[in-house]
Amino acid sequence: MSASLTAANTFRITEIVKIREESPTVKTFIIPDKLCCKAKPGQFLMLWIPGVDEIPLSIMEVNNGLISVSVKHVGDATRHLHNMTGGETVGIRGPFGNCFTESRGRVLLVSGGTGTAPLLFLAKQLSAKTDRLSFVEGAKTKDELLFVKELNGVCNEKNLITTTEDGTYGLQCMVTEPLAKLLDKEKFDMIYTCGPEVMVKKIFELTEQRKLPLEASLERLMRCGIGLCGSCVIGKYRVCRDGPVFNAGQLREVKDELGISKIGFDGSRIPL
Ligand SMILES: Cc1cc2nc3c(=O)[nH]c(=O)nc-3n(C[C@H](O)[C@H](O)[C@H](O)COP(=O)(O)OP(=O)(O)OC[C@H]3O[C@@H](n4cnc5c(N)ncnc54)[C@H](O)[C@@H]3O)c2cc1C
Ligand code: FES
Repeated sequence: MSASLTAANTFRITEIVKIREESPTVKTFIIPDKLCCKAKPGQFLMLWIPGVDEIPLSIMEVNNGLISVSVKHVGDATRHLHNMTGGETVGIRGPFGNCFTESRGRVLLVSGGTGTAPLLFLAKQLSAKTDRLSFVEGAKTKDELLFVKELNGVCNEKNLITTTEDGTYGLQCMVTEPLAKLLDKEKFDMIYTCGPEVMVKKIFELTEQRKLPLEASLERLMRCGIGLCGSCVIGKYRVCRDGPVFNAGQLREVKDELGISKIGFDGSRIPL
């Protein structure tokens, strides 16, 4: 293990200092951690919820010794986390994994659900460096559309497209619909995506048809976070060590699994 990975993998006890409600199912937790403050967009940490579980979460913001993670309540660990209050103890390992490459020129970011969190981090970092930054964000309903105000700020308003499945905000459709039109109308030097894997797969197909570069952040079940346990495999890759960000060439290699299935904690293959 390299020195920096050894340091990242050293377990630190810390505490939640602030909690922000983002939507009916998503809360942002602000936690002091010096090491994770060195994280780049795309990297993740392992958050230990005492007595419950340790779960992987994308780092959304680093600021003055504090990091932010935005967490959707989906099951046991995330329910316990949502019930925690400021001052309560948590544990951290990380930052782990690779990061998005910093592309210049005209870039497009496409997110769904909590996949918006790492892309907001990336958008903030890229906004001053790119010629144009466009963002397409989708959610089921208006309530679940995350960080619209912040994204409007980084995208200069007119370059943000929002979609909801029920039509309560933005266009009523899936995120991939305006995306296909945008890709046919405008030129992009890089497309970044993070969100439900079925969405990522569709975006991969759209960019492949047009021979466009893509980087996608993937999720798999994670335990160790450092490439040892094998629970996060996709094809020949371990998502925690080789990813979570994969480029178009790597996605081509794992396209038979992408958006189709993943390995469960008992080793069986589960459909996505
Ligand atoms: C690299 C990475 C970054 C992530 N970033 C975020 C984020 O920023 N915000 C967010 O809300 N969620 C994120 N997730 C997903 C988050 O880790 C799971 O939602 C969480 O672990 C669910 O735990 P649970 O006990 O509440 O739910 P469970 O009831 O245990 O499971 C609910 C769902 O979460 C999946 N899951 C459970 N445990 C894990 C695990 N150890 N690793 C991966 N998936 C798991 C299950 O397969 C299932 O699909 C990320 C996952 C990965 C791999
Ligand atoms: S989580 Fe253990 S190898 Fe990736």
